Amino acid sequence: MLLQLKNLLSAEELGIARALLGDDAPWIDGRSSAGVQALTQKNNEQLAQDSEASRTLQALILGALRRDPLFFSAALPRKIFNPLFNRYGGGSNFYGPHVDGAVLHSKASQEWVRTDVSCTVFLSDPADYDGGELLVQDTYGSRGVKLAAGDAVLYPGTSVHQVTPVTRGHRVASFLWIESMVRSDEQRRILFDLDMNLLKLRAQLGETPETTALTGVYHNLLRQWAQT
Ligand code: NI
Repeated sequence: MLLQLKNLLSAEELGIARALLGDDAPWIDGRSSAGVQALTQKNNEQLAQDSEASRTLQALILGALRRDPLFFSAALPRKIFNPLFNRYGGGSNFYGPHVDGAVLHSKASQEWVRTDVSCTVFLSDPADYDGGELLVQDTYGSRGVKLAAGDAVLYPGTSVHQVTPVTRGHRVASFLWIESMVRSDEQRRILFDLDMNLLKLRAQLGETPETTALTGVYHNLLRQWAQT
């Protein structure tokens, strides 16, 4: 499932992020954190994880995710890998087709995180750069994603994906992974559909015996499938 989270960041948070991610931020070669397959495809810059800017921005992104009910319903997070930040432009401007590692070790929390769901938070205004589309391959073919600054996308961690070359300006983004309480993308999709439609039914009809019963179905499925 590919899902857009609109306005994940407030205008104020976006301003803070942009101020900390300018030219004088501690950008390092993105290849320092890639696995063997990804290494051959990766050509971008990444914010040094041990920097003050990185710590401030990680807290900002995690705070935004935690308050977003759509994020919770879609990802059902159990663990979140510390958000990272990258920049594409100039001579370091693309990340070819690759898969992310299935389990990654988070420096911040010193724990392993299974990458069930991937997330990219767009921080640059799309008018400020050309190219830089996130292309995600799923069962329906390849989908291109280029969102407004402050919006985010969730997509399956299992997918082959890439960032196309940035031919003008810079594309700055945050990216992270979520280990979900529900490992299967299909099961998460069923739960998400049920949850979203229950919200709509409740808005239309108020609480009825049927909405109560269907809410029970949601929780009983979650109880069957969730690992906490
Ligand atoms: Ni990736």
